[in-house]
Amino acid sequence: MPLHAADLKSRFHALDAFLLAHQDLWRPKPFTHRHLPWEAHHPQLSSWLRQRSLEQAEAAHNHPEQLDAPEPFAQIARQSKALSEVEALPRIDLVNVSSRMSVDVPGRKWQQIEAFASSLSFRNTPTHWLDWCAGKGHLGRRLAHDGQALTCLEYDAKLVDAGERLSQKLGVPALHVHQDVMAAQAATRLQSAHTPVALHACGDLHVRLMQLASDAGCQNIAIAPCCYNRIACDHYQPLSAEGQTSALQLSIDDLGVPLSETVTAGARVRRQRDHSMARRLAFDLLQRQLRGTDEYLPTPSLPIAWLDKPFADYCRDLAALKRLPPPAHQNWDALEAAGWQRLAEVRNLELLRNLFRRPLELWLILDRALYLQQRDYHVRIGTFCESQITPRNLLILAERK
Ligand SMILES: C[S@@+](CC[C@H](N)C(=O)[O-])C[C@H]1O[C@@H](n2cnc3c(N)ncnc32)[C@H](O)[C@@H]1O
Repeated sequence: MPLHAADLKSRFHALDAFLLAHQDLWRPKPFTHRHLPWEAHHPQLSSWLRQRSLEQAEAAHNHPEQLDAPEPFAQIARQSKALSEVEALPRIDLVNVSSRMSVDVPGRKWQQIEAFASSLSFRNTPTHWLDWCAGKGHLGRRLAHDGQALTCLEYDAKLVDAGERLSQKLGVPALHVHQDVMAAQAATRLQSAHTPVALHACGDLHVRLMQLASDAGCQNIAIAPCCYNRIACDHYQPLSAEGQTSALQLSIDDLGVPLSETVTAGARVRRQRDHSMARRLAFDLLQRQLRGTDEYLPTPSLPIAWLDKPFADYCRDLAALKRLPPPAHQNWDALEAAGWQRLAEVRNLELLRNLFRRPLELWLILDRALYLQQRDYHVRIGTFCESQITPRNLLILAERK
């Protein structure tokens, strides 16, 4: 069974207590600390994780709960798994559409769209779909059939034009509107007869939809959130009464925790990412020495071509960019090797933090669900596809009471 009205509050409180009790384990980022505060309390777990290889960390990345690590790892893994349990939403049969409709859509995106569409089991059949942050409107076109109207809102003019052309080509009557959904005027785009759908609208964008759609009294709403950390404020602003009374304060960094699962990266991208991180971690050791301060120093993201520089030049140039004294003679090979060693340690230490990915995401989803419940909606939450298709696979379905 997906999560229903009665379960929403109790699950939220259980997650809230779990996250608050273990803040010391998930807040500090292994990347920015040479030693994490929790390691002193759990020395066995710390040394067990630190002696593992980068390949072992990679293999466990998406399923840290299966790792046979010393306590308190296993106990937290069990709690995390139980608290993150969410079932799939019931499926409905989709109307067949012409295969031409998926021609311009990347494979995995089309799978997401079909899965999202077949999870929209509303009691009242929608008459007018509103695709929120629609891109080219692929989702809306997949949904609209048998005379149902379709409006797509999108602020990238190129995508609006491309969407319009696609709708015409495929013979789907649709209105593609160039609209910044954060602008005041966006409120006038919503009517009670609309069924807004949002597939992977980022942070503020889907929150804005929940506010405007519930103000407009829309009958049905379906939202699959993503990028919880793309918000204008520097801290999370809880939406529900329960969220607002929670003691959990979430920074932008914390909001990035649920997004750290990597299913989509190919081998080449992963190698590049590892290379870049190993260099950054090596530079971090160097900068601590140059500044005489054992503290992390943020560095800007660098053009990929920096990875082609000899390691010593990379460090000298980055030191200059950060206005640090030029590094004196160094054993560059040893420093570079230390960066790779740290990367293996960081990735393995992150496995503990990764146990909190799904609980934190579900806390955020439940804050949204409870908000809609408090605005007079029946709310269900569940998954709409397997996490291999997209790790952002949670869907909020709301129907006005
Ligand atoms: C992650 S994409 C999702 C697109 C589409 N729903 C899909 O699943 O393919 C987010 C979309 O939101 C659009 N967007 C970002 N900010 C927006 C804003 N303020 N108003 C309207 N659209 C916005 C982007 O241009 C992009 O097309």
